[in-house]
Amino acid sequence: MNKLLNTLFAVSVACATPLALAQASAPAAPAAPAAKPAAAPAGAKSVEAKVAMCIGCHGIKGYQASFPEIHKVPMISGQSAKYIAAALNAYKTGDRKHPTMRGIADSLSDQDIADISAYYEAHGKEGGKPALAEQPSRQPSPQVAALLQKAACASCHGANMSKPIDPSYPKIAGQHADYMFVALKAYKAGNGQTVGRSNGVMGAIAKQFSNAELKALAGYVSSLDGELSVKPEDKFR
Ligand code: HEC
Ligand code: HEC
Repeated sequence: MNKLLNTLFAVSVACATPLALAQASAPAAPAAPAAKPAAAPAGAKSVEAKVAMCIGCHGIKGYQASFPEIHKVPMISGQSAKYIAAALNAYKTGDRKHPTMRGIADSLSDQDIADISAYYEAHGKEGGKPALAEQPSRQPSPQVAALLQKAACASCHGANMSKPIDPSYPKIAGQHADYMFVALKAYKAGNGQTVGRSNGVMGAIAKQFSNAELKALAGYVSSLDGELSVKPEDKFR
C-alpha cells in the first residue's frame, strides 16, 4: 500500500515540477545546471500534487475499505473545509483511530491540510448543482423520526442534514450509509484500543442508541439529497 502511495506521489510530483521543462531546454542553455531547479522553491508543490494520493481511495466511485469492517470510503468532495481539516487533525492526533488515515494525515503539514481542505470544499461545487432545499428531501419513517428527535440531530447538522450550524461540523446528507454506521459505532466505542473516535459531542449521542438504531439513522440520512460527491479525475492532469 505504501509503495502504491509513494509511486502515485512520485508520479504526480514529477509531473508537477518544472524539471521536465528545464531538461527539455537544457541543450540550449548549457550554463544552467540541471541540478538546480530554481523555479521550484520548497513548498511550491501544487494542490493537485497534494491530493494525488487521496484520489486512489476518495476519487473512485464505490471504492471500499476493509477496516474495521467493509464499507465505502467516505465522500469528501463538497464537505466543509473546516470539518475536513478537523477530521485530518483528529487522525493525526489519534482522536480518530484509523491506521491508514493516520499515516496519511501524519505526512501532511498544516499548510497541506489547509490547501487540501479548501480544494475539496470547492471540488464539490464544480458543475453548479442546484441549491438544496431547506428541508430534507425525504420524510423519515415514524421509527426513524423518533430517533432523530431523541438526539436532535437536525439542531447541529441542519434541518436538511447538509447545513451544519458550525462549519467544523460535517454535512452528512447523502453520505454512504455503511460508512456512517461505522463512524457512529466508532463514536460509541470512544477511545478504544484499535478503533474509536473520541469526540465528546458525538460520543454522548451515539451511546444513547443500539447498533440497530444507529444503522437505521445512517440509512435514512444517506437516502437524503446532499452536497457530497465522489469526483473521479484524471491523475495526470
Ligand atoms: C487507502 C485509502 C485512502 C487514502 C489514500 C486516503 N483516504 Fe481518507 N479515508 C479513507 C478511509 C477508509 C476513511 C474512513 C476512516 C474512518 O473510518 O474514520 C477516510 C477518511 C477520511 C476523512 C474523514 C471523512 C469524514 O467524513 O469524516 C477525510 C477528511 C479524509 N479521509 C481525507 C483524505 C485526504 C485529504 C487524503 C489524501 C491526502 C486521503 N484521505 C487519502 C481512505 C483513504
Ligand atoms: C450537538 C451537536 C450534534 C448533534 C446533536 C449531532 N451531531 Fe453528529 N456530529 C457533530 C459533530 C461536531 C461531528 C464531528 C465530530 C468529529 O469531529 O469527529 C458529528 C459527526 C457525525 C457523523 C460522522 C460524519 C462523518 O463524516 O464522519 C455522523 C454520521 C453524525 N454526526 C450523525 C449524527 C446523527 C445521526 C445525529 C442524531 C442522532 C447527530 N449526529 C447529532 C455534532 C452533532
